[in-house]
Amino acid sequence: MVTRPYVIDEMISAKSIAARIEELCREIQKEFADTDKLVVVGLLRGSFVFIADLVRELDLPIEVDFLEASSYGDGMESTQEVRILKDLRGGIEGRDVLIVEDIIDTGITLNYLTNYLAGKNPRSVKIVTLLSKPARRVVEIPVEWMGFEIPDKFVVGYGLDFGEQYRNLPYVGVLKPSMYTAILGKE
Ligand code: PRP
Repeated sequence: MVTRPYVIDEMISAKSIAARIEELCREIQKEFADTDKLVVVGLLRGSFVFIADLVRELDLPIEVDFLEASSYGDGMESTQEVRILKDLRGGIEGRDVLIVEDIIDTGITLNYLTNYLAGKNPRSVKIVTLLSKPARRVVEIPVEWMGFEIPDKFVVGYGLDFGEQYRNLPYVGVLKPSMYTAILGKE
């Protein structure tokens, strides 16, 4: 079990995440009870842990696909630019789409991607995000399901990274400031 307690303060435990995912899945199942057309789209790379746990709790006939976009560099600030690095493998025309995101920060990534996916003529596009940081929002995004609203702190673990590290922590934690000041060389 990966813990790294010396650089991370736990914010949301693995147990709390699992319990919340069960609740989210009950709601998502109700919403999609009548469809056999659901495509669950994970946004790489951050959502890979969340989507893996989510789909195993989701008692529905689904397909899984992935899309990779990037709005961040290796540091901590998001940029306005969104680039698609890997497109969907399958088509979504006429399908119900559930986007699985790890965190909504400014909303710029999802704003871009929901418009992009809408251009492929799906039947519907809905969003589930594990985390949301409302204090950072620049673009309002309609989110159907959200795991946890969190304060404006830099979080890692459960798929989320800092400089591509810490994605394998089983919980969501806050990076101790000494860590990123050491790496970025600033206060
Ligand atoms: C992160 C995160 C979201 C996005 C949220 O992705 O996974 O996709 O930023 O930020 P926003 O709401 O300000 O647009 P990132 O580009 O860091 O890539 P990653 O998923 O590979 O870590």
